[in-house]
Amino acid sequence: MKEILVLHGPNLNLLGSREPQVYGSMTLEEINRRLMAEGERLGIKVRCFQSNAEGALIDQLHEARGWAAGVIFNPGGYTHTSVALRDAVAAIGIPVIEVHLSNVEAREEFRQRSLISAVCWGKISGLGWKSYWLALHAFALRFQEDEMR
Ligand code: DQA
Repeated sequence: MKEILVLHGPNLNLLGSREPQVYGSMTLEEINRRLMAEGERLGIKVRCFQSNAEGALIDQLHEARGWAAGVIFNPGGYTHTSVALRDAVAAIGIPVIEVHLSNVEAREEFRQRSLISAVCWGKISGLGWKSYWLALHAFALRFQEDEMR
């Protein structure tokens, strides 16, 4: 069975209570629960991890080389600042989809630049928790296409 890492960056542990008008009212646990259940339905094992620490996120990306067929990554505020996370994504040779709950392009100017996007397979933003959901489905389609080849 294919496995996917869902990686959440800083402050996403506070989802549900954190600026709900921007990020919605669903908790991180609920998002993870839905992704794992949908993964099961699609025949994909979903493993979730959250950290507020840049180094821990980098370690997870490195470790994913050993087991993950794809990564769904919300780098949070590090999206806009972290050369080290960009380098980790570029280094691992696994397709990564960058996701954001909010529409970062429609927000403050500093959020409109992502250091991560250019080294990702794709990016989904602005659809709330459904950004993650659609990323999972994009991987399911990719895996199906791989199998047909
Ligand atoms: C975010 C957008 C970032 O700009 C912000 O720093 C976050 C969350 C999102 O999912 O919309 O922490 O990645």
